[in-house]
Amino acid sequence: MKKDRREFLKSTVGLTALTSLVPAIAVGQSFSIESRDPDLGHVFLTSPYLQNPSPNAITVMFIVNLPSYSYVEFGESEELGKKAHKTENGLVVAYNRVNKITLLNLKPATTYYYRVVSKEISKFDPYNLIYGETIVSYIHSFITPSFEKDDVSVLIMNDLHERPYSIPHLMNLVDKKEMDFVFFNGDVFDYQEDEKQIIDNMLTPCCDEFASNIPFYFVRGNHETRGKFARELYHYFATPKEQQYYEFLWGVTHFTVLDTGEDKPDTDKEYGNIVDFDSYREEQLQWFKKVVQTAGFKKAKFRVVLMHIPFFHSDDWHGTKHLEKLFSSIFNDSKIDICICGHTHRYGVYSPDKKKHRYPIIIGGGPKEGNRTIISLKANSKQLSLKMMRDDGKLVGNYDIVPKE
Ligand SMILES: [Fe+2]
Repeated sequence: MKKDRREFLKSTVGLTALTSLVPAIAVGQSFSIESRDPDLGHVFLTSPYLQNPSPNAITVMFIVNLPSYSYVEFGESEELGKKAHKTENGLVVAYNRVNKITLLNLKPATTYYYRVVSKEISKFDPYNLIYGETIVSYIHSFITPSFEKDDVSVLIMNDLHERPYSIPHLMNLVDKKEMDFVFFNGDVFDYQEDEKQIIDNMLTPCCDEFASNIPFYFVRGNHETRGKFARELYHYFATPKEQQYYEFLWGVTHFTVLDTGEDKPDTDKEYGNIVDFDSYREEQLQWFKKVVQTAGFKKAKFRVVLMHIPFFHSDDWHGTKHLEKLFSSIFNDSKIDICICGHTHRYGVYSPDKKKHRYPIIIGGGPKEGNRTIISLKANSKQLSLKMMRDDGKLVGNYDIVPKE
């Protein structure tokens, strides 16, 4: 039997607080509930989390527990006033649970306020659609990136391996005030089991810490390619062009994100003949050859590569060597400024090497206490500055670069 929703709110926030928490439109009809308790009826399983930002657009994601029609209300003040939902082939996306809604035509460098709304579809017959409960989130805000500003500030974490508590711990070691986005450089998980794992071990700690207000990007490590839910994982994140490898420009810094795949050969028996990472890495090389020809890449003051498996200072397994064979020369020839990785679980800063890599390679550590790191990268037109902090607050790496001539 469902718990009483009003009783739930009374017990958790107190009746006086309820009035201020429930948005005006919902009073008397429905209640704003951000809960992970499915016994409460229609509920949000996550707070909204921001993805794939640009000066004119941002994607709002959130998960509910029942098939529903969901949308975002947003605007430049807490009055909101605009509404966005997703359409596909003439139909508004509905009767779904995992929501990925992009707000378009935003102004750069502007503060926006938003909340998400979800209307349960309790009956969906061909000619008889009946809505059930409506739930409304709290109001959150974000600032769109600027076209004018040259700077970027990023926090990078890797190899958390099912340790949700590492996210607030590491983020509390660094200054978050100027942060533009957070980047997860793979192996947040050990393998993909189900949706609950993604919510509990990543989305909830991200939302609690920052993700309703500051966007994050994610790229897979080798561990995220494993397990029965691996093929569903991409539904929970938004990336440029909906690809798992991607590129974007922020200020004067260009970011290339590669999805390095598995570390062992595709024929390894534990993969059961249902992986094809050799072709996938080659596909990424062909794509990257085009990226290096773009004006965005060529004109950038700094070119940063983010990828999970480093092909130097790592292991000699198949995936690693295959990446080296494919990308080693193009990274040098295209004047990559810095490559930031994870995977080895041993943090380190490796200066440019004339023979192998003419750019520094930074490897973040993890996942156990004493090995976890968070990397802060700040860049403007004059300098790129990277600092790597260990989980005890000690600075264990830094690297400063000026633009190449
Ligand atoms: Fe790892």
